[in-house]
Amino acid sequence: LKNAALSAVRDAGTTADLEGVRVRFLGRSAELTGIKKGIGNLSPDERKEVGRSANLASREIEGALAERTEALAAAERGARLQREAVDVTLPGVPFPGGHLHPSQRIIDEVVDFFVGLGYGVAEGPEAETDYYNFTALGIPPGHPARTMQDTFFLDEGLVLRTHTSPVQVRTMLSQEPPVYVVCPGRTYRRDSDPTHTPMFHQIEGLAVDRGLTLGHLKGTLAAMARHVFGEEVAVRLRPSYFQFTEPSVELDVSCFRCGGSDPNCKICKGAGWLEMLGAGMVDPDVLEGAGYDSEEYTGFAFGMGPDRMAMAKYGIPDLRLFFEGDLRFLRQF
Ligand code: PHE
Repeated sequence: LKNAALSAVRDAGTTADLEGVRVRFLGRSAELTGIKKGIGNLSPDERKEVGRSANLASREIEGALAERTEALAAAERGARLQREAVDVTLPGVPFPGGHLHPSQRIIDEVVDFFVGLGYGVAEGPEAETDYYNFTALGIPPGHPARTMQDTFFLDEGLVLRTHTSPVQVRTMLSQEPPVYVVCPGRTYRRDSDPTHTPMFHQIEGLAVDRGLTLGHLKGTLAAMARHVFGEEVAVRLRPSYFQFTEPSVELDVSCFRCGGSDPNCKICKGAGWLEMLGAGMVDPDVLEGAGYDSEEYTGFAFGMGPDRMAMAKYGIPDLRLFFEGDLRFLRQF
């Protein structure tokens, strides 16, 4: 019996097999256990003899079991460690690092600049009512300026907003002056050529307070231009016309590349100046339409195209590249 047990211990290949062996030879219904239980029925002489060798046998089997268990457990642990080993020196799986789209970089720079001045950020719907996109901005139905905007018309009096200026109106209707906000967003016009895409971005800005003048407008936008294009750029205002500002201006930035000294400059084409944005003093009618007292408050507004600014800043010749999703283009930034 003992030898059968010892050889079973030797043959067990796993700790689980060993447990089976233990139950078979030392368990409650094992033969040896039965022998021990029967000792009480034997004569005193036999008792002593049988008891001694039964105890010796079970101690020997227990010892062999313990030894084998230890050996198998160590082997199993070693095998598991080997299986689960991680080679921390292996090169990792390359994870492609993303980066911002050139338009988004300009948007972030401009918005960060204005947030630094204390402006808030506002957004409005891209599917806008005809009223906010046009009428509230001094462009009533039938006004010739409407045809200049290449509008996408939707159902039920909605349009895809042609500019971010409706967000000015929505902002003024939702809060009391003073107001300082920038409104970045997508805008739409039916147009496609190297400098126009049907979807493009604008960043609107609006400041309404007591005593604001065109000087504040120019100073603010000059500081913004320096933030985006470099400390050395100058700005100039040119007279312009928008229905919702009076007076209206366009703002040019001196060429950040050549400063106007290179007739072959790739950035400004020798012009020395880059057209950057439309702006003006908010028309008193627009203020009054939003319930503001135009005797007490004045304001300035501006609308810029961050896509065009990115074209200038990074020297990109065709705006359509921005929105085609071609990775060969996008990876260059
Ligand atoms: N909304 C005008 C445009 O899209 C730009 C603008 C904004 C002009 C604010 C003046 C004031 O052309």
